[in-house]
Amino acid sequence: MNATITTTARYVPKNIVTNHDLEKIMDTSDEWIKSRTGIHQRHFVGENEATSDICTHIAKSLLEKRNLSPDDIDIIIISTVTPDMLAPSTAAIVQNNIGASRAWGFDLSGACTGFLYGLETGAKFVESSQYNKVMVIGVDTMSSILNLEDRNTAVLFGDGGGGVILEQTGDNSGIFDSILKMDGSGGPFLQMPAGGSRMPATIESVENKMHYIRQDGRTVFKFAVKGMADVAEKILEKHQLTGDDISLFIPHQANKRIIDAAANRCGIDSDKVLINIHEYGNTTAGTLPIGLSEADDTGKIKNGDLLLLAAFGAGWTWGSMLIKWDTLS
Ligand code: ACO
Repeated sequence: MNATITTTARYVPKNIVTNHDLEKIMDTSDEWIKSRTGIHQRHFVGENEATSDICTHIAKSLLEKRNLSPDDIDIIIISTVTPDMLAPSTAAIVQNNIGASRAWGFDLSGACTGFLYGLETGAKFVESSQYNKVMVIGVDTMSSILNLEDRNTAVLFGDGGGGVILEQTGDNSGIFDSILKMDGSGGPFLQMPAGGSRMPATIESVENKMHYIRQDGRTVFKFAVKGMADVAEKILEKHQLTGDDISLFIPHQANKRIIDAAANRCGIDSDKVLINIHEYGNTTAGTLPIGLSEADDTGKIKNGDLLLLAAFGAGWTWGSMLIKWDTLS
Protein backbone atom coordinates (compact mmCIF):
# COMPACT_ATOMS: atom_id res chain seq x y z
CA MET A 1 0.00 0.00 0.00
CA ASN A 2 1.20 3.51 -0.78
CA ALA A 3 0.43 6.64 1.15
CA THR A 4 -1.82 9.11 -0.59
CA ILE A 5 -2.65 12.78 -0.14
CA THR A 6 -6.28 12.97 0.87
CA THR A 7 -6.53 16.71 1.59
CA THR A 8 -4.57 19.87 0.84
CA ALA A 9 -4.63 23.37 2.30
CA ARG A 10 -2.50 26.53 2.20
CA TYR A 11 -2.15 29.87 3.93
CA VAL A 12 -0.23 33.03 3.14
CA PRO A 13 -0.17 36.10 5.39
CA LYS A 14 -2.45 38.97 4.38
CA ASN A 15 0.27 41.60 4.03
CA ILE A 16 1.41 41.95 0.36
CA VAL A 17 4.79 43.52 -0.45
CA THR A 18 5.16 44.48 -4.12
CA ASN A 19 8.36 45.04 -6.05
CA HIS A 20 7.48 48.74 -6.02
CA ASP A 21 7.41 48.63 -2.21
CA LEU A 22 10.95 47.20 -2.27
CA GLU A 23 12.10 49.88 -4.72
CA LYS A 24 11.45 52.38 -1.95
CA ILE A 25 13.82 50.74 0.53
CA MET A 26 16.65 49.31 -1.60
CA ASP A 27 18.47 49.85 -4.87
CA THR A 28 16.34 47.63 -7.10
CA SER A 29 13.55 47.93 -9.65
CA ASP A 30 10.29 46.21 -10.48
CA GLU A 31 11.60 45.62 -13.99
CA TRP A 32 14.83 43.93 -12.74
CA ILE A 33 13.02 41.66 -10.30
CA LYS A 34 10.33 40.63 -12.80
CA SER A 35 12.71 39.97 -15.66
CA ARG A 36 15.38 38.13 -13.62
CA THR A 37 13.09 36.12 -11.33
CA GLY A 38 9.43 36.27 -12.42
CA ILE A 39 8.41 37.65 -9.00
CA HIS A 40 5.86 40.49 -8.87
CA GLN A 41 5.00 40.45 -5.17
CA ARG A 42 5.31 38.37 -2.00
CA HIS A 43 3.44 38.09 1.31
CA PHE A 44 5.12 38.97 4.63
CA VAL A 45 3.83 38.17 8.10
CA GLY A 46 2.42 40.98 10.20
CA GLU A 47 3.59 41.98 13.65
CA ASN A 48 3.35 39.11 16.17
CA GLU A 49 2.74 36.57 13.38
CA ALA A 50 5.13 33.61 13.08
CA THR A 51 5.54 30.23 11.42
CA SER A 52 3.31 28.34 13.89
CA ASP A 53 0.48 30.81 13.20
CA ILE A 54 0.66 30.07 9.47
CA CYS A 55 0.74 26.33 10.29
CA THR A 56 -2.25 26.59 12.60
CA HIS A 57 -4.36 28.13 9.82
CA ILE A 58 -3.26 25.31 7.49
CA ALA A 59 -3.82 22.56 10.07
CA LYS A 60 -7.34 23.77 10.95
CA SER A 61 -8.21 24.03 7.31
CA LEU A 62 -6.97 20.46 6.65
CA LEU A 63 -9.09 19.09 9.50
CA GLU A 64 -12.15 20.96 8.31
CA LYS A 65 -11.77 19.95 4.67
CA ARG A 66 -11.35 16.27 5.52
CA ASN A 67 -13.99 16.45 8.25
CA LEU A 68 -11.61 15.14 10.92
CA SER A 69 -11.32 15.81 14.62
CA PRO A 70 -7.89 16.89 15.95
CA ASP A 71 -7.68 13.54 17.76
CA ASP A 72 -7.68 11.71 14.43
CA ILE A 73 -4.15 12.96 13.70
CA ASP A 74 -1.32 10.58 14.63
CA ILE A 75 1.77 12.58 13.63
CA ILE A 76 2.50 16.23 12.75
CA ILE A 77 5.58 16.92 10.61
CA ILE A 78 6.52 20.55 9.98
CA SER A 79 9.15 21.13 7.30
CA THR A 80 10.72 24.54 7.88
CA VAL A 81 13.99 26.43 8.29
CA THR A 82 12.24 29.24 10.13
CA PRO A 83 10.69 27.63 13.22
CA ASP A 84 9.17 29.94 15.86
CA MET A 85 12.19 29.09 18.04
CA LEU A 86 14.76 26.30 18.32
CA ALA A 87 12.88 24.63 21.18
CA PRO A 88 10.13 23.65 21.51
CA SER A 89 9.46 22.52 17.98
CA THR A 90 6.89 24.28 15.82
CA ALA A 91 5.13 20.89 15.59
CA ALA A 92 4.60 20.94 19.36
CA ILE A 93 3.18 24.48 19.24
CA VAL A 94 0.81 23.52 16.42
CA GLN A 95 -0.22 20.29 18.22
CA ASN A 96 -1.25 22.39 21.20
CA ASN A 97 -2.94 25.09 19.10
CA ILE A 98 -5.21 22.62 17.33
CA GLY A 99 -5.67 20.28 20.33
CA ALA A 100 -4.36 17.16 18.56
CA SER A 101 -3.99 15.35 21.87
CA ARG A 102 -3.00 11.95 20.43
CA ALA A 103 -0.37 13.30 18.03
CA TRP A 104 3.39 13.37 18.34
CA GLY A 105 5.61 15.06 15.81
CA PHE A 106 8.70 17.02 14.93
CA ASP A 107 10.22 19.74 12.76
CA LEU A 108 12.26 18.74 9.75
CA SER A 109 14.95 20.94 8.19
CA GLY A 110 15.34 20.38 4.47
CA ALA A 111 15.22 23.97 3.19
CA CYS A 112 13.47 24.25 -0.20
CA THR A 113 13.35 20.44 -0.48
CA GLY A 114 11.85 20.19 3.01
CA PHE A 115 8.32 19.40 1.86
CA LEU A 116 9.53 16.47 -0.27
CA TYR A 117 11.59 15.16 2.67
CA GLY A 118 8.50 15.59 4.86
CA LEU A 119 6.20 13.78 2.42
CA GLU A 120 8.65 10.90 2.09
CA THR A 121 8.99 10.61 5.87
CA GLY A 122 5.25 10.87 6.48
CA ALA A 123 4.51 8.34 3.74
CA LYS A 124 6.78 5.76 5.38
CA PHE A 125 4.91 6.09 8.68
CA VAL A 126 1.58 5.59 6.88
CA GLU A 127 2.88 2.68 4.81
CA SER A 128 4.06 0.96 8.00
CA SER A 129 0.34 0.68 8.94
CA GLN A 130 1.23 1.77 12.46
CA TYR A 131 -0.16 5.26 11.81
CA ASN A 132 -3.31 6.20 9.89
CA LYS A 133 -3.23 9.96 9.48
CA VAL A 134 -0.09 12.04 9.18
CA MET A 135 -0.20 15.81 8.72
CA VAL A 136 2.74 17.22 6.72
CA ILE A 137 3.16 20.98 6.46
CA GLY A 138 5.82 22.84 4.44
CA VAL A 139 6.15 26.43 5.59
CA ASP A 140 8.57 29.31 5.96
CA THR A 141 8.60 32.82 7.31
CA MET A 142 11.55 33.97 5.24
CA SER A 143 10.99 37.64 6.12
CA SER A 144 12.28 36.78 9.61
CA ILE A 145 15.75 35.98 8.24
CA LEU A 146 15.94 38.49 5.37
CA ASN A 147 18.35 41.40 5.38
CA LEU A 148 16.32 44.14 3.69
CA GLU A 149 19.58 45.95 2.92
CA ASP A 150 20.81 43.04 0.78
CA ARG A 151 19.16 43.20 -2.64
CA ASN A 152 20.77 39.89 -3.61
CA THR A 153 18.43 37.99 -1.30
CA ALA A 154 15.70 40.34 -0.08
CA VAL A 155 13.77 40.49 -3.35
CA LEU A 156 13.51 36.72 -3.75
CA PHE A 157 11.61 35.42 -0.74
CA GLY A 158 8.15 35.48 0.82
CA ASP A 159 6.22 33.92 3.71
CA GLY A 160 3.61 31.17 3.61
CA GLY A 161 2.99 27.47 3.42
CA GLY A 162 0.71 24.59 2.76
CA GLY A 163 0.02 21.11 3.98
CA VAL A 164 -1.53 17.74 3.36
CA ILE A 165 -2.98 14.79 5.21
CA LEU A 166 -1.45 11.46 4.28
CA GLU A 167 -3.45 8.24 4.55
CA GLN A 168 -3.22 4.74 3.09
CA THR A 169 -4.58 4.17 -0.40
CA GLY A 170 -6.78 1.27 -1.34
CA ASP A 171 -4.67 0.54 -4.40
CA ASN A 172 -1.35 1.40 -5.94
CA SER A 173 -1.92 5.12 -6.42
CA GLY A 174 -0.67 7.94 -4.21
CA ILE A 175 3.02 8.63 -3.65
CA PHE A 176 4.67 5.90 -5.63
CA ASP A 177 8.28 6.95 -6.02
CA SER A 178 10.83 9.59 -5.09
CA ILE A 179 14.48 10.42 -5.61
CA LEU A 180 15.93 12.44 -2.74
CA LYS A 181 19.45 13.85 -2.62
CA MET A 182 21.81 15.83 -0.41
CA ASP A 183 25.31 17.22 -0.93
CA GLY A 184 26.59 19.16 2.06
CA SER A 185 29.55 20.58 0.13
CA GLY A 186 27.06 23.19 -1.15
CA GLY A 187 26.46 24.58 2.34
CA PRO A 188 28.66 27.68 2.14
CA PHE A 189 26.86 29.00 -0.94
CA LEU A 190 23.52 29.50 0.83
CA GLN A 191 23.38 29.77 4.59
CA MET A 192 22.43 31.68 7.71
CA PRO A 193 25.66 31.56 9.70
CA ALA A 194 24.58 32.66 13.20
CA GLY A 195 21.96 31.67 15.73
CA GLY A 196 22.91 28.02 16.05
CA SER A 197 25.55 26.27 18.19
CA ARG A 198 28.39 27.22 15.81
CA MET A 199 27.84 30.93 16.26
CA PRO A 200 25.42 31.69 19.11
CA ALA A 201 23.92 35.18 19.18
CA THR A 202 26.26 37.93 20.35
CA ILE A 203 26.12 41.68 19.92
CA GLU A 204 28.85 41.27 17.31
CA SER A 205 27.02 38.57 15.34
CA VAL A 206 23.90 40.72 15.24
CA GLU A 207 25.84 43.87 14.26
CA ASN A 208 27.52 41.90 11.45
CA LYS A 209 24.09 40.71 10.24
CA MET A 210 25.06 37.06 10.56
CA HIS A 211 21.49 36.08 11.47
CA TYR A 212 20.30 36.73 7.95
CA ILE A 213 20.33 34.38 4.99
CA ARG A 214 23.15 35.03 2.53
CA GLN A 215 23.98 33.41 -0.78
CA ASP A 216 26.09 33.30 -3.89
CA GLY A 217 23.09 33.67 -6.21
CA ARG A 218 24.82 32.70 -9.45
CA THR A 219 26.21 29.46 -8.00
CA VAL A 220 22.83 28.59 -6.47
CA PHE A 221 21.19 29.24 -9.84
CA LYS A 222 23.60 26.94 -11.69
CA PHE A 223 23.24 24.04 -9.23
CA ALA A 224 19.46 24.50 -8.95
CA VAL A 225 18.89 24.20 -12.71
CA LYS A 226 21.05 21.10 -12.96
CA GLY A 227 19.89 19.47 -9.71
CA MET A 228 16.18 19.93 -10.27
CA ALA A 229 16.29 18.94 -13.94
CA ASP A 230 18.50 15.89 -13.25
CA VAL A 231 16.22 14.31 -10.64
CA ALA A 232 13.04 15.15 -12.52
CA GLU A 233 14.41 13.57 -15.69
CA LYS A 234 15.77 10.56 -13.79
CA ILE A 235 12.49 9.64 -12.11
CA LEU A 236 10.67 9.83 -15.45
CA GLU A 237 13.30 7.60 -17.08
CA LYS A 238 13.12 5.12 -14.21
CA HIS A 239 9.41 4.59 -14.90
CA GLN A 240 9.71 4.77 -18.71
CA LEU A 241 7.69 7.97 -18.74
CA THR A 242 8.09 11.13 -20.78
CA GLY A 243 6.98 14.70 -20.14
CA ASP A 244 3.81 13.93 -22.11
CA ASP A 245 2.70 11.42 -19.44
CA ILE A 246 2.75 14.08 -16.73
CA SER A 247 -0.54 15.88 -16.09
CA LEU A 248 1.03 18.59 -13.94
CA PHE A 249 4.61 19.50 -13.02
CA ILE A 250 4.84 21.31 -9.68
CA PRO A 251 8.38 22.65 -9.33
CA HIS A 252 9.91 24.58 -6.43
CA GLN A 253 9.38 28.29 -7.09
CA ALA A 254 12.80 29.94 -6.76
CA ASN A 255 13.18 31.62 -10.13
CA LYS A 256 11.00 31.42 -13.25
CA ARG A 257 14.13 30.85 -15.33
CA ILE A 258 15.10 27.80 -13.22
CA ILE A 259 11.57 26.38 -13.61
CA ASP A 260 11.54 26.92 -17.39
CA ALA A 261 14.94 25.25 -17.79
CA ALA A 262 13.90 22.19 -15.74
CA ALA A 263 10.55 21.81 -17.55
CA ASN A 264 12.28 22.16 -20.88
CA ARG A 265 14.84 19.44 -20.07
CA CYS A 266 12.01 17.06 -19.10
CA GLY A 267 9.98 17.84 -22.24
CA ILE A 268 7.00 19.13 -20.27
CA ASP A 269 4.82 21.69 -22.07
CA SER A 270 4.61 25.06 -20.34
CA ASP A 271 0.82 24.77 -19.92
CA LYS A 272 1.41 21.74 -17.66
CA VAL A 273 3.80 23.59 -15.34
CA LEU A 274 2.39 25.18 -12.18
CA ILE A 275 3.82 28.66 -11.72
CA ASN A 276 2.80 31.00 -8.92
CA ILE A 277 6.16 32.65 -8.16
CA HIS A 278 4.78 35.99 -9.41
CA GLU A 279 2.34 36.01 -6.48
CA TYR A 280 4.34 34.58 -3.58
CA GLY A 281 8.08 34.70 -4.41
CA ASN A 282 10.12 31.87 -2.92
CA THR A 283 8.49 30.60 0.28
CA THR A 284 11.20 27.90 0.65
CA ALA A 285 9.49 24.75 2.10
CA GLY A 286 6.14 26.41 1.36
CA THR A 287 6.26 26.55 -2.44
CA LEU A 288 5.36 22.93 -3.27
CA PRO A 289 2.40 22.55 -0.88
CA ILE A 290 1.03 25.98 -1.82
CA GLY A 291 1.17 24.92 -5.48
CA LEU A 292 -0.35 21.53 -4.75
CA SER A 293 -3.21 23.06 -2.80
CA GLU A 294 -3.90 25.67 -5.50
CA ALA A 295 -3.95 22.97 -8.18
CA ASP A 296 -6.29 20.84 -6.04
CA ASP A 297 -8.70 23.69 -5.26
CA THR A 298 -8.87 25.01 -8.81
CA GLY A 299 -9.52 21.61 -10.37
CA LYS A 300 -6.16 21.54 -12.17
CA ILE A 301 -5.72 17.96 -10.98
CA LYS A 302 -8.15 15.10 -10.87
CA ASN A 303 -8.02 11.54 -9.65
CA GLY A 304 -5.80 9.38 -11.82
CA ASP A 305 -3.54 12.27 -12.89
CA LEU A 306 0.21 11.82 -12.71
CA LEU A 307 2.01 14.63 -10.89
CA LEU A 308 5.72 15.34 -10.89
CA LEU A 309 7.15 17.40 -8.03
CA ALA A 310 10.75 18.64 -7.92
CA ALA A 311 12.77 20.93 -5.68
CA PHE A 312 16.27 22.20 -4.97
CA GLY A 313 17.60 24.20 -2.04
CA ALA A 314 20.15 24.95 0.64
CA GLY A 315 22.32 22.09 1.79
CA TRP A 316 22.44 21.33 -1.11
CA THR A 317 19.21 19.35 -0.92
CA TRP A 318 17.12 18.28 -3.89
CA GLY A 319 14.64 15.72 -5.06
CA SER A 320 11.72 14.65 -7.22
CA MET A 321 8.53 12.71 -6.56
CA LEU A 322 5.84 11.02 -8.63
CA ILE A 323 2.27 11.00 -7.33
CA LYS A 324 -0.75 9.35 -8.90
CA TRP A 325 -3.48 11.64 -7.61
CA ASP A 326 -6.11 9.87 -5.56
CA THR A 327 -7.85 11.94 -2.90
CA LEU A 328 -10.18 9.05 -1.96
CA SER A 329 -13.05 11.52 -2.33
N1 ACO B 1 18.00 44.60 -8.13
C1 ACO B 1 18.76 45.17 -9.07
N2 ACO B 1 19.97 44.72 -9.43
C2 ACO B 1 20.43 43.61 -8.81
C3 ACO B 1 19.68 42.96 -7.82
C4 ACO B 1 18.43 43.50 -7.48
N3 ACO B 1 17.64 42.93 -6.55
N4 ACO B 1 20.39 41.90 -7.38
C5 ACO B 1 21.54 41.88 -8.09
N5 ACO B 1 21.57 42.92 -8.94
C6 ACO B 1 22.60 43.29 -9.90
C7 ACO B 1 23.95 42.69 -9.55
O1 ACO B 1 24.61 43.49 -8.60
C8 ACO B 1 24.63 42.68 -10.90
O2 ACO B 1 25.12 43.97 -11.16
P1 ACO B 1 26.54 44.16 -11.89
O3 ACO B 1 26.38 43.51 -13.24
O4 ACO B 1 26.69 45.63 -11.93
O5 ACO B 1 27.51 43.44 -11.02
C9 ACO B 1 23.48 42.42 -11.89
O6 ACO B 1 22.29 42.74 -11.18
C10 ACO B 1 23.42 40.99 -12.37
O7 ACO B 1 23.58 40.14 -11.25
P2 ACO B 1 23.55 38.58 -11.40
O8 ACO B 1 23.83 37.97 -10.08
O9 ACO B 1 24.38 38.16 -12.56
O10 ACO B 1 22.03 38.36 -11.79
P3 ACO B 1 21.34 37.04 -12.18
O11 ACO B 1 20.73 37.16 -13.51
O12 ACO B 1 22.22 35.84 -11.91
O13 ACO B 1 20.15 36.97 -11.13
C11 ACO B 1 19.52 35.97 -9.06
C12 ACO B 1 20.43 36.96 -9.74
C13 ACO B 1 18.10 36.39 -9.30
C14 ACO B 1 19.83 35.98 -7.56
C15 ACO B 1 19.76 34.55 -9.67
O14 ACO B 1 21.12 34.25 -9.68
C16 ACO B 1 19.03 33.50 -8.90
O15 ACO B 1 17.82 33.39 -8.93
N6 ACO B 1 19.78 32.60 -8.22
C17 ACO B 1 19.16 31.55 -7.44
C18 ACO B 1 19.08 32.03 -6.03
C19 ACO B 1 17.94 31.43 -5.26
O16 ACO B 1 16.92 31.06 -5.79
N7 ACO B 1 18.10 31.35 -3.96
C20 ACO B 1 17.00 30.97 -3.14
C21 ACO B 1 17.21 29.78 -2.31
S1 ACO B 1 17.75 28.37 -3.18
C22 ACO B 1 16.48 27.86 -4.09
O17 ACO B 1 15.36 28.10 -3.76
C23 ACO B 1 16.77 27.11 -5.32
